[in-house]
Amino acid sequence: MKIYRTKDYEEMSKKAAHIIAAQIVLKPDCVLGLATGSTPVGTYKNLVEWYKNGDLDFSALSSCNLDEYRGLSPENDQSYRYFMNTNLFDHVNIRKDHTFVPDGQEENSDKACQMYEQIIHDLGGIDLQLLGLGHNGHIGFNEPAEEFPKITHCVDLTESTIQANKRFFEKESDVPRQAYTMGIGTIMSAKKILVVVSGEDKADILSKIINGPITPQVPASILQLHPDVTIVADNAALSKVK
Ligand code: F6R
Repeated sequence: MKIYRTKDYEEMSKKAAHIIAAQIVLKPDCVLGLATGSTPVGTYKNLVEWYKNGDLDFSALSSCNLDEYRGLSPENDQSYRYFMNTNLFDHVNIRKDHTFVPDGQEENSDKACQMYEQIIHDLGGIDLQLLGLGHNGHIGFNEPAEEFPKITHCVDLTESTIQANKRFFEKESDVPRQAYTMGIGTIMSAKKILVVVSGEDKADILSKIINGPITPQVPASILQLHPDVTIVADNAALSKVK
């Protein structure tokens, strides 16, 4: 694992954006694996800025997102498709029909997940996968479990996630109960992986990911086995790493 330490969130975002930009420059028709959540927002802002300055061209690349809520339409402002459109895709010259997110509207979960694996396969696999890190070590929606899930699958959201999400919806019954997510095997198949981590609240889990045992109880610990992982984290997030 290569670890870059930055002084704060802004510097982390810039460094991560530089790594993604380098990938795009070196292979303009690359396949980027993308993430939602709060951590990559600054990274996407830098990429948009560099595109607007004429320094980056997204016109040949494709993207695949990690996950999507089951049952939400792309227009729903809580869907991950909506997040990607508003934070990145709407602001750069990416071909929208070359951006992929699991199909949250496909009710048949086996079909939705198989289709997504097929899309990634047909694209020739992911060149660079961007990841955020959950407080319990989750990546995508792969939560602590007895074993590492291999391929894209449907997960039941935990009661605490449902409760945490309900503030974003009109009524509790609107909160999605399930999500489609790339599996750990899907993520590990990416040629390169870039993990962005910020803040003291991630310090404990980040030290476990880097130095702790590899266990499905800490899903991201498996990244220790990947041959090309770069972690970009700020001082606060790295404060417990010796
Ligand atoms: C996002 C995703 C999640 C987040 C993780 C960290 O597509 O799959 O695993 O990366 O929950 O979220 P933030 O960045 O909000 O702390």
